[in-house]
Amino acid sequence: MKILSPGNTLDDPMATYLAVDRSAPRHECWVAGHMVAGLDGTAAIGGKVGALSTDVDQDLFRRMRQIADVVLVGAETVRKEGYGLVRLSDEAMAARQAAGKPPTPPVAIVSGSLELNWKLKLFREAPEHAKTMIITGESADPAALAEAQQHAEIIFAGKDRVEPDAALQAFAQRGYQVVLCEGGPTLLGELVAADRLDELLLSIAPVMGGDNLPVSLRPDGAGISRFQLQHVMGEDHTLFLRYEALRDEDPNHE
Ligand SMILES: NC(=O)c1ccc[n+]([C@@H]2O[C@H](COP(=O)([O-])OP(=O)(O)OC[C@H]3O[C@@H](n4cnc5c(N)ncnc54)[C@H](OP(=O)(O)O)[C@@H]3O)[C@@H](O)[C@H]2O)c1
Repeated sequence: MKILSPGNTLDDPMATYLAVDRSAPRHECWVAGHMVAGLDGTAAIGGKVGALSTDVDQDLFRRMRQIADVVLVGAETVRKEGYGLVRLSDEAMAARQAAGKPPTPPVAIVSGSLELNWKLKLFREAPEHAKTMIITGESADPAALAEAQQHAEIIFAGKDRVEPDAALQAFAQRGYQVVLCEGGPTLLGELVAADRLDELLLSIAPVMGGDNLPVSLRPDGAGISRFQLQHVMGEDHTLFLRYEALRDEDPNHE
């Protein structure tokens, strides 16, 4: 057991996340989840994340998109949060472009129903280099599909439901190496159950009493997944934890 005591102050916490080597994923692309939980594990307050997330957490949340080739999010989060466009600082966009990436990553929404608010900027104002995508199953309702195709690029990944493996293979075929999943708990739980979560960036906010919604919802029949702590940072009574999935070759792997 170690007691963690305050260490050096970082000039920029983002540098720690940018320095992570994500070039050797366990599968065809690296999947990082970025979530915030209250002290009791709650993932939302009144159906939204806002009141749960401290200022420093919100800042980091927005900036973390710099690492992503694509931002992946579940349809219910888009509906509840009224998801907006990815915006990065000039410096972050320049760094991405210097690395041969577009200035901002596209957003990809997982949805079976295709019931989305097409008036969101995410659909109306997505830049040409980062058109919003929707990932759905082949058996999606044809009328809803025809509507969705007018507002976003459609990727089929599975028949009756989106299969995480198929979705991630489709991303890899597009050259996306780092997928940043911003939830919600249903989608994250599916990635975990499929053993496709390589990294979890979890903020622990100093709050209790939110919704009875954990950061990851386990689908029926899913097993236990194990992770290793990579770093801990703290500011404003909020903890910033970074975990990586235990690899098969690790001696602790069952
Ligand atoms: N604490 C955090 O960091 C955090 C992060 C994100 C969100 N949240 C909160 O979480 C809540 C929403 O999360 P949620 O778990 O209810 O929903 P979610 O994971 O955001 O989205 C679930 C929806 O995604 C689609 N979906 C997911 N898996 C699918 C699959 N395999 N095949 C087809 N469609 C699939 C379905 O959309 P359709 O219904 O369109 O078919 C499903 O209803 C909100 O309150 C939000 O504020 C918290």
